[in-house]
Amino acid sequence: MAENTFLAGDANWWRQAVVYQIYPRSFKDSNADGLGDIPGITSKMAYLSHLGIDAVWLSPFYPSALADGGYDVDDYRNIDPRLGTLADFDDMVDAAHSADIRVFVDIVPNHSSNRHAWFKDALAAAPGSPERARYIFRDGKGVMGEIPPSDWPSHFGPTAWTRITEADGELGQWYLHLFAPEQPDFNWDNPEIIEDFKTTLRFWADRGVDGFRVDVAHALKKDMSEPLPSVTSFAMENIPLDGSNPLFDRDDVHEIYRGWRKVFNEYDPPRVAVAEAWVPAERRPQYARADELGQAFNFDLLGAPWSAKKFHHTIEFNIHLASKSKSSSTWVLSNHDVVRHATRYGLPKKVDFDKWLMSDGKVPELDLQQGLSRARAATMLIMALPGSTYIYQGEELGLFEVANIHDADLQDPMWLRGGKTRKGRDGCRVPLPWTKAGSSFGFGEGPSHLPQPAWFPAYAVEFEESQSGSTLKMYREMIHLRTQLQGAETLEWVHSRSKVVHFMRPGGWHSITNFGKKAVKLPAGNVMISSGPLLDGKLPANTTAWVTEHGVE
Ligand code: GLC
Repeated sequence: MAENTFLAGDANWWRQAVVYQIYPRSFKDSNADGLGDIPGITSKMAYLSHLGIDAVWLSPFYPSALADGGYDVDDYRNIDPRLGTLADFDDMVDAAHSADIRVFVDIVPNHSSNRHAWFKDALAAAPGSPERARYIFRDGKGVMGEIPPSDWPSHFGPTAWTRITEADGELGQWYLHLFAPEQPDFNWDNPEIIEDFKTTLRFWADRGVDGFRVDVAHALKKDMSEPLPSVTSFAMENIPLDGSNPLFDRDDVHEIYRGWRKVFNEYDPPRVAVAEAWVPAERRPQYARADELGQAFNFDLLGAPWSAKKFHHTIEFNIHLASKSKSSSTWVLSNHDVVRHATRYGLPKKVDFDKWLMSDGKVPELDLQQGLSRARAATMLIMALPGSTYIYQGEELGLFEVANIHDADLQDPMWLRGGKTRKGRDGCRVPLPWTKAGSSFGFGEGPSHLPQPAWFPAYAVEFEESQSGSTLKMYREMIHLRTQLQGAETLEWVHSRSKVVHFMRPGGWHSITNFGKKAVKLPAGNVMISSGPLLDGKLPANTTAWVTEHGVE
């Protein structure tokens, strides 16, 4: 049996870790205000421990007006009072560490919220002042400065510039926000910003935080030389490989992360980080270099259709990419920004998820059975790969996207900013069902901040605990087996039929996924686990099995 690599104090613990993403406001509410909170997370530590994960990553829990689900941060070194206190946070970290679970927090460096003290100071100060220089302010064009400084769009549409009213009551300068107007972009050419974020990293590392997830890591540095260049779309195709896009993936962004690495290395074991960088795959290794963040999210499988060929190539390519920076790859199928994978796989190929959500999930019809089988099979596949796996709260229950949230209940800025043409990401952020009945299905003792659907009881933790073969039980068993088997970070492809992905890990451990329609033969050995029932000893469609040649001790 291979060694368990997740030993306390091991500086490489992250390389093959299973990291569970918590969206704190939707995980567990301990004080009946409808919002999940930090004591709620602490109260579920036994659940997380039973799942067998190595770490949790908490999406933002900072004070925030929630203009973008907490990614609009008022104060980077505090807790939203609705979610708890710093003392609650310390208790949560202690409870996690006692359960051998590491803690990642989310750092949002591209922008603060418009309620951040520095942004308020900037509004009150004059153009050209040091207070304004912490953000990106520019005069408008046109005779009266009435035209935005450039044509740049925002992610949430329509424009990335908002004009302010100056202290004297007159319309004045414009500020940049690549996301919502409540999220003004910092000026990373200003050394004060560089120093302040190092203080924030140390603040959390000193409290025992083990790692950082870095939000939109590729956007911090911008080419602000006049005249500002035209950028009319944020599409990935417009990010070239030479770092020449004015807004994203510029080469000088890496200086920032080299500075951060020095901070991480002040600690023992060194703190770790993972970049959320939506850049062409070839550019990803730069963020993952050992003297920078160390790891970068690979979202390629998340975007891949259900196809053996696509999965095979994506896996091969990403293992190669990770090795370029001597990092390990990450595997992700769901997070708080995308339609849950059980739903994606239950819809026809090439469907437009935004349109599907706009039909309240009615057109085209979702094939629940296919969606869940494929989701389970895909997760079992990625769990067998070398590298770390990021799972998103609720996927261990097999949750589907909640597609029919009423317009009036939608919170995502995409909805209003996008002219009500895209519902956005609320459907994967609905509070978890813990119990089969009761107010908000055990999420809290009151209604939840986003409404839960009537089908939740069949996916509640309490229900799945009682069902053999439930998705929850499968996750627990799979993660347990994985930690027993995970050894060297190598993989050997096994030649197989075109609709099958079959590889072997050290110790004669096979993972086989059937992407086709016909059941296929399994290799000789012991079937340790399968994502669905076998058919006369064969592997049916939409199923993964793990087989050992020698059995597991
Ligand atoms: C990241 C987050 C997303 C947020 C955006 C702006 O992509 O994952 O939820 O809206 O950054 O902070």
